[in-house]
Amino acid sequence: MNATTPAVVFEPGEGLTLREVSVREPRTGELAVEIRAAGVCHSDLHILNGDWPEDRPLVLGHEAAGIVTAVGDGVDLEPGDHVVLSWFAPCGRCDRCASGKAWLCTGTRAVENVLPDGGTAFRSDGEELWPFLGLGAFTGSVIVPRSAAVKVASELPFEVGALLGCAVTTGVGAAVNTAQVRPGETAVVIGCGGVGLATVMGLRLAGAGTVVAVDLSAERRAAAERFGATVTLDGATVDVPAWCQEHLGGADYAFEAVGSPRLIEQLPSMIRSGGAAVVVGMPPIGAKVQLDAFELADQGKRILGCNYGSSVAAIDIPRLADLFLAGRLPLDELVGTTRPLAEAQLAFDELKAGIGLRGILVP
Ligand SMILES: NC(=O)c1ccc[n+]([C@@H]2O[C@H](COP(=O)([O-])OP(=O)(O)OC[C@H]3O[C@@H](n4cnc5c(N)ncnc54)[C@H](O)[C@@H]3O)[C@@H](O)[C@H]2O)c1
Ligand SMILES: [Zn+2]
Ligand SMILES: [Zn+2]
Repeated sequence: MNATTPAVVFEPGEGLTLREVSVREPRTGELAVEIRAAGVCHSDLHILNGDWPEDRPLVLGHEAAGIVTAVGDGVDLEPGDHVVLSWFAPCGRCDRCASGKAWLCTGTRAVENVLPDGGTAFRSDGEELWPFLGLGAFTGSVIVPRSAAVKVASELPFEVGALLGCAVTTGVGAAVNTAQVRPGETAVVIGCGGVGLATVMGLRLAGAGTVVAVDLSAERRAAAERFGATVTLDGATVDVPAWCQEHLGGADYAFEAVGSPRLIEQLPSMIRSGGAAVVVGMPPIGAKVQLDAFELADQGKRILGCNYGSSVAAIDIPRLADLFLAGRLPLDELVGTTRPLAEAQLAFDELKAGIGLRGILVP
């Protein structure tokens, strides 16, 4: 593939730029995927705003779906297959993978923003550009390892497939895998972006009782109600811990889906004894929080970290896609405005301002 295609690139010192990139052919164990839709996640914004420092140019985008166009040796997919890309391509060899916990893989190199061999398939004007989370999906075509591609039914809309790549699998998984919420249990979700709204959907799927959704945006709170929240609160005006204690005696679960250390610190005071605080939002690297250690021990309160919704992409993504296709998970209603790559800045501005639902970029 020597043709070039536009890409949304983070340039150190410059921020967001649009560059023409070329993508090499797939090698052994890799495949080429033509991107059809890519969601705009706050994790891309963490790169742009310096929360997660990066000194190399990165092709952004890590929540995407598309069509296989070519495969390298040893790849059991075919051109024409529809796939969702998974940003945490597991190595399949480490002890975490062997114990069925692919979301904790210690062998993946995706988090270094490289392919498994440590390299990149992207070039631009003779310079190497690196794939954010091993994908770099805000462009026309990507090279990914086999473990980063999950085959899905061709009737699955690409926008829905894209959201399955990150927000939905993370959010639904936070409720059903990480917290393992049971019917009738109560929960509060702080932050109703793509991840928080998917958490609300996951809570409905799990049969949760009272589900309290908190956001600063009235539009996002209204969406949370459509997805199953039974109560919504304005985080700017309501003392959420006090509300949870007064009305619920503390929730069974409190999910943070913003990435704010200040909000994460408040989680234990939202839950009851024996309850769990679930940290889904990703703060800036190195952020520290202060927790009341006596309270945690005395009241048996738990803190659960949640990477990728504690999901095994190869298993959970097809299951969630099937639930959507069966009409049991309204993932299409989470899809916001679809824009061309050239309007990426606008999509990020809206993400920052909490306007609309999950923005989608298409090449
Ligand atoms: N754990 C994981 O594997 C994983 C996966 C994907 C994303 N994330 C992280 O999850 C976080 C959320 O991602 P997203 O894409 O949904 O972000 P988003 O920007 O779409 O949503 C964040 C929401 O939080 C709301 N918010 C901000 N401040 C608030 C406050 N004080 N009280 C209540 N609500 C508030 C915003 O209005 C917005 O609706 C990010 O930190 C992202 O990096 C984690
Ligand atoms: Zn993401
Ligand atoms: Zn592994």
